[in-house]
Amino acid sequence: MADLNFAFISLILLLPLALLLFLYLIVRPRPVKIPLKSRHVFITGGSSGIGLALAHQAATEGARVSILARSLKKLEEAKDAIRLSTGIDVAVYAADVRDYDAISKAVDEAGPIDVLIVNQGVFVPQELAEQELDEVKFMLDVNLLGTFNMIKAALPAMKNRVDRRPASIALMSSQAGQVGIYGYTAYSASKFGIRGLAEALQQEVIGDDIHISLIFPPDTDTPGFAEEQKKRPELTTIIAAGGGSMKPELVAKKAFNGIKSGSFIIPCNFEGALLSVATAGLSPQRSFFMAFLEVVGAGVIRIVALCFQWVWYGSIEKWHAQRK
Ligand SMILES: NC(=O)c1ccc[n+]([C@@H]2O[C@H](COP(=O)([O-])OP(=O)(O)OC[C@H]3O[C@@H](n4cnc5c(N)ncnc54)[C@H](OP(=O)(O)O)[C@@H]3O)[C@@H](O)[C@H]2O)c1
Repeated sequence: MADLNFAFISLILLLPLALLLFLYLIVRPRPVKIPLKSRHVFITGGSSGIGLALAHQAATEGARVSILARSLKKLEEAKDAIRLSTGIDVAVYAADVRDYDAISKAVDEAGPIDVLIVNQGVFVPQELAEQELDEVKFMLDVNLLGTFNMIKAALPAMKNRVDRRPASIALMSSQAGQVGIYGYTAYSASKFGIRGLAEALQQEVIGDDIHISLIFPPDTDTPGFAEEQKKRPELTTIIAAGGGSMKPELVAKKAFNGIKSGSFIIPCNFEGALLSVATAGLSPQRSFFMAFLEVVGAGVIRIVALCFQWVWYGSIEKWHAQRK
């Protein structure tokens, strides 16, 4: 009997260790470190909110920073604010990511990029039945096609960079790019699209030592978020309620921690980490420990996800019943 117990306990201990060893051997791409100091970090949407916090953080870490957005006035204000808090001057470029020629010119002037953060984004929540197609197109153009434009403009020089240390392309998604939420049909589509782009692009640029990251912030306290909240449909507020909002500075810190370690998926809080495990799918994973959590947590987290759907559809049913 004692022998049987010993064998059973050994098996319980050995199985996770064997799984960890197996995952350590197979996870791809391999772990990487992406230095920031003295490197050129180019941030789109760097004049406001999360982008501005990213620019502050990059300057603090000793990078050469360029920011791009449409309004030159807001860019100059951002430049002044960064100089005031860090003593460092950032370069500013006024261009619309929907205008490929304008952003190509900006990228050429800025010089080869080591870390490209494509962060610009617009979000106008509304039910698709009510939303004008022009507004849908606007979100897809800025969030998704604008991201393609930026990558196309920056990639040739990034591939031929003189500094052969690992480089990064980080794309700003959203938790609405991991799960569809009422009122975010166009926004979610634009952010889910970025994930497909990222998964395929990582395979295309790994040979150039360029590493893709996808950042998934929750609601974050920014000027863009303040505007978005004024327009949220009632049901969006009910379903998305409860999480509170993060400070952009904390999102920027989490983002750079992930970028520097080449993480493909970068969650920004605990709820985001659970969402990342729930939606891991066939995404690349460099960390064997995270891969372990994904494998072991998958079933339990699926149950949690189904409970969320149960609550959300319950809220929708109740909302419609009250209106009948
Ligand atoms: N805040 C949140 O709750 C939240 C949550 C998850 C994900 N995100 C994502 O995080 C990113 C930043 O959001 P935020 O809340 O910081 O927004 P924000 O405060 O509104 O800032 C948006 C930035 O993007 C620039 N921008 C907008 N349209 C542009 C265009 N066509 N071309 C070039 N630049 C453009 C804006 O400058 P100009 O207007 O001067 O162009 C500004 O610098 C977005 O991708 C958003 O989807 C935000």
